[in-house]
Amino acid sequence: MTKINRDLVLLADGAGLSSATASSSIASSSKEKTATIPVDQLLAEQLNIALVHRPDQIATEYYLQYRAGGLSLVKTQSDAGETSSVVSCDFVLGALRHRRLFGGGIKQPLARAVGLSSNFKPTVADLTAGLGRDGFLLASLGAQVSLVERNEVVAALLSDGLLRLQQSAEQDDDLRVISERLSLHRGDSKAWLQSLDASHRPDVIYLDPMFPDRSKSAKVKKEMAVFPGLVGSDDDADELLALALNTACYRVVVKRPRRAPPLGGIKPGFSMEGKTTRFDIHPLKKIPR
Ligand SMILES: C[S@@+](CC[C@H](N)C(=O)[O-])C[C@H]1O[C@@H](n2cnc3c(N)ncnc32)[C@H](O)[C@@H]1O
Repeated sequence: MTKINRDLVLLADGAGLSSATASSSIASSSKEKTATIPVDQLLAEQLNIALVHRPDQIATEYYLQYRAGGLSLVKTQSDAGETSSVVSCDFVLGALRHRRLFGGGIKQPLARAVGLSSNFKPTVADLTAGLGRDGFLLASLGAQVSLVERNEVVAALLSDGLLRLQQSAEQDDDLRVISERLSLHRGDSKAWLQSLDASHRPDVIYLDPMFPDRSKSAKVKKEMAVFPGLVGSDDDADELLALALNTACYRVVVKRPRRAPPLGGIKPGFSMEGKTTRFDIHPLKKIPR
């Protein structure tokens, strides 16, 4: 357990959600309980953390909060209890909406790194899913994406974002198609990869592990600055790359800070550099054109 997870509590929803809302808002593993238990209680049980009912019961710097708008990881900012939402997962509005509509489509570096084109819409295993932003972008461009996330808090935020995407998709065909291309798998990617049937090998495997210096960069977004305390440092990323190289059909793509050494010291076939990041591409088989 990393620092933030250890002490985390969930602040109960003051508005008191109905059990009907609860039944549509929680992951399938808890379905049998949804008839009577509110969402916040289910989430606390699922994450094995305490549910508190008043802000003055929170003794820690971070806490989770569930409201009608979704689940957030919140940082307590001052002694007066003033707060700001630090991390939540929103695929429908904000930056991801802008990127989906105006981001440059398949010309974007991530899409090119994965080899996505009008003739090649790969199955992608995003083995370090995080808040699912990269996976969502790939799904919005036609890839079928399996998101794998092992950190329970991050997976809960991601699951909540996917659920609200599904809800919005009921009124929006574009979102419906994207939502249907995304699936979430909770747990360690190494075990997930090893459990895959040979006929389900992904075309492309995508890795974006935590980089040790990431939080020190001035350009790091506030959400990513919280991540090291939440998920740790992904020390097994070299091992994950080795497994990925043995499993993907066409290529493995690794996102790195621009000046970082290649993951695992394994030289990629080629790289694509952006302003702050770099995609290292390990080709395994020629992509159909
Ligand atoms: C830098 S974040 C990824 C951000 C993501 N690309 C995005 O667009 O939101 C790295 C994430 O990978 C997860 N992770 C790292 N190694 C993993 C593994 N072996 N299995 C599952 N998740 C892993 C971490 O818990 C963390 O949430």
